[in-house]
Amino acid sequence: MLALVSLCIVVVVWWLATARRDSKSLPGPRPWPIIGSLHVLGGYKSPFEAFTALSKVYGDIFGISLGPAQCVVVNNFRLIKEVLINKGGDFGGRPDFLRYHKLFGGDRNNSLALCDWSALQKTRRSIAKSYCSPRFTSLQYDRVNEVGADELEVFLAKLQKLPQNTPIDIKPLILGTCANMFTQYMCSTRFAYDDPEFRKIVRYFDEIFWEINQGYAVDFLPWLLPIYQGHMKKLSHWAAEIRQFILSRIIDKHRATLDINSPPKDFTDALLIHLEEDPNMNWQHIIFELEDFIGGHSAIGNLVMITLASVVKYPEVAEHIQKEVDAVTKGKRSPNLFDKANMPYTEATLWEALRKASSPIVPHVATTDTEIDGYKIEKGTMVFLNNYELNVGEDYWNNPEKFMPERFLTHSGRVTKPGHFIPFSTGKRTCIGQRLVQCFSFIILATILQHYDVSAGSEMEMKPGCVAVPPDCFKLVLTPRKTPPTSG
Ligand code: HEM
Repeated sequence: MLALVSLCIVVVVWWLATARRDSKSLPGPRPWPIIGSLHVLGGYKSPFEAFTALSKVYGDIFGISLGPAQCVVVNNFRLIKEVLINKGGDFGGRPDFLRYHKLFGGDRNNSLALCDWSALQKTRRSIAKSYCSPRFTSLQYDRVNEVGADELEVFLAKLQKLPQNTPIDIKPLILGTCANMFTQYMCSTRFAYDDPEFRKIVRYFDEIFWEINQGYAVDFLPWLLPIYQGHMKKLSHWAAEIRQFILSRIIDKHRATLDINSPPKDFTDALLIHLEEDPNMNWQHIIFELEDFIGGHSAIGNLVMITLASVVKYPEVAEHIQKEVDAVTKGKRSPNLFDKANMPYTEATLWEALRKASSPIVPHVATTDTEIDGYKIEKGTMVFLNNYELNVGEDYWNNPEKFMPERFLTHSGRVTKPGHFIPFSTGKRTCIGQRLVQCFSFIILATILQHYDVSAGSEMEMKPGCVAVPPDCFKLVLTPRKTPPTSG
């Protein structure tokens, strides 16, 4: 009797499981032969705009074929959390785009952001943690503050020499400043702004940052490669030049003076010491890790440009930040990281810029057969997390199209962020550089506005769902403030 009941239970469970799988096949657009639904994305400025539009038709989770690649798009916070947090271990892979290999010496697993999850990735993240995610009370945080302040003095002196009250191309200077902040903080090395090699490398990093934020048909249709040969060569060239610069101008000097018995003085030392101690790390890993993190400066430079563009469109935002910085510094000194707690509006402006820019979460890939929301997901399926919808969707924000830093402030004026706002993603592959972003972008923005009024110098068009602006982008007019900051 017991055996019969058990058998019945097994049969019922099996039937329910199969019925569930059969009844839940993913909705989604019907693919065309060869290209799948790539043509649908072509009709929008950003693929994420397309995903949002498709979610209105097919629901919060749908399947889409892009070329031969089977993809799933998840469009609400609950499902995004399921992928990134609850089942983070099942979705630790990254897409295998040819461009990614070209940028990282022929193997995308050299890159921290574009590799599949592995024991090596765990080690690389843990070495980077204390330097790239410095805690408020740590020595590293003090060092970020110090490096930022020193570099901004040089920046201001350079800025004064540029033509005032006329449109200028300020992006190269901002990027150079960010690059020096990074190399000083991570490698105890900085470069002269007119050093031709440094300028070239900063430009190449920015080209790569723009590149990585774009999508190309060849990512999904690799047989288009012959058409993209020139482009791919360019990517390999930029990457090789950067690598050579980092080796000859940063690492060689460091190695010559390294004392492995003393505590590391910076991130480069920490990596080199790790190389001596960990048999699983090799020379390539060290160079690529350092390169990856130094490259983070481009993200900050681009975010500052995007924020300035919003400040130009909404002059009341600039006035508010200027009031805050004047009140805190009394016009007698420069703003620093320890002022952040008393400058919530400035911090909120950066969150609002990140919300509006809506940098996409790098696609994840299923590394095993698994499920999302009860739908069967096969190993190798690419998953797009539609954080664009989380950042600009009517269901999540009031007047989402408006630039309103105050949406990130409580009634008592403290900074607050809703749980669904995850510009740096969440889970095991969350952004490692987010604290550096918050620190450096804050002092750069506050310092510029302490000294200058900023207005438009040319047309400014931002691409939706993209935190990058093109390497050659809009110009700005910087006018020394009428009310000098020393008046406070
Ligand atoms: C505007 C600035 C930035 C934004 C919006 C941003 C956002 C992101 C996002 C959304 C991811 C993907 C996480 C995922 O796939 O779940 C990511 C990954 C990553 N970010 Fe950032 N990031 C920024 C700047 C930086 C900087 C400055 C650094 C380095 C100092 C950095 C280092 C990384 C690394 C190493 C990863 C890969 C982590 C992994 O895959 O394990 N990021 N970032």
